[in-house]
Amino acid sequence: MASKIFHPISFIFLIFVLLAPIGHAKRSIPSDKNSSPFDFIKKLKGCHKGNNTKDIHKLKAYLEEFGYLSYENNAHATDDDFDDTLDSAIKTYQKNYNIKPSGIVDDETISKMTTPRCGVPDIANGINYMQPRDNKHESSSSNIHTVSHYSFFPGNPKWPSSKTFLTYRFFSNVPTYAIAPVARAFQKWASATQFSFAQVPTNQNSDLVIGFYRRDHGDGVPFDGPRGILAHAFSPTNGRLHYDAEERWSVGSVKGSFDLETLALHEIGHLLGLQHSRVKEAIMFPTFSAGEVKNLNSDDIQGIRALYNR
Ligand SMILES: *[C@@H]1O[C@H](CO)[C@@H](O)[C@H](O)[C@H]1NC(C)=O
Ligand SMILES: [Zn+2]
Ligand SMILES: [Zn+2]
Repeated sequence: MASKIFHPISFIFLIFVLLAPIGHAKRSIPSDKNSSPFDFIKKLKGCHKGNNTKDIHKLKAYLEEFGYLSYENNAHATDDDFDDTLDSAIKTYQKNYNIKPSGIVDDETISKMTTPRCGVPDIANGINYMQPRDNKHESSSSNIHTVSHYSFFPGNPKWPSSKTFLTYRFFSNVPTYAIAPVARAFQKWASATQFSFAQVPTNQNSDLVIGFYRRDHGDGVPFDGPRGILAHAFSPTNGRLHYDAEERWSVGSVKGSFDLETLALHEIGHLLGLQHSRVKEAIMFPTFSAGEVKNLNSDDIQGIRALYNR
């Protein structure tokens, strides 16, 4: 019971502690509703190897986040030198998104890089999911050499072949308007595959869990506020599907908003074992524009069939 009366200095300190987060929150609110954490890339227009331009280090962080580069030397990761590593990462990015691999941050590259996307990296463990590979699944039983577009996580993690019935639940933080679109996405995957899905109450155990989160939410892959990263999910048999709660979400195509069902179709693909595809029409293509509504594509269905040998 030492101090019922606040010492003036602790009072000032308390005010500071209380106001600091408000100041922080104010700074992070975008100035207009269409701004995105990826907007810094627009200011790098025309940059190429040899340039030293403010915020090149942010482009390095962006490309590192999605798997395109990794600096052993932290000094190079944080400087603004457009070096060989960045040049090669940009060219790989351009190839993945069907842009001429010039290494120049041109209009097309900026337009693609600033498009909102799934948070799951396009490259991991040295595997570039979006580049053609020999398709062992289809070529093993015939002489026809096929090239796959769909891809899997390293080591091809999947649900055990006996487990075709998967339960899912929504965390209590999921807005009620999101439940029907996510359920429809599960239904679409069920119609196209051997899987069936059923929702269980929030307080029960389930194979899959859907939640809405803001910024850092404890899984090591923080969300970034409006636009930028929209959602992410984990490979089998983890089961977690996370939406960025700060996005403008919609049911169906609404200008300036992102369709809940379209993102659910993509993220359920990850939950079942698919990685990103370079086929633009595939649901497993990584980027999503506001107002865009997509469905499962034959590339996605072929991918699941190949992964589960069906
Ligand atoms: C990049 O470097 C070139 C010279 O090689 C210079 O002319 C150009 O202005 C630089 N671009 C930027 C965006 O800094
Ligand atoms: Zn994804
Ligand atoms: Zn998460």
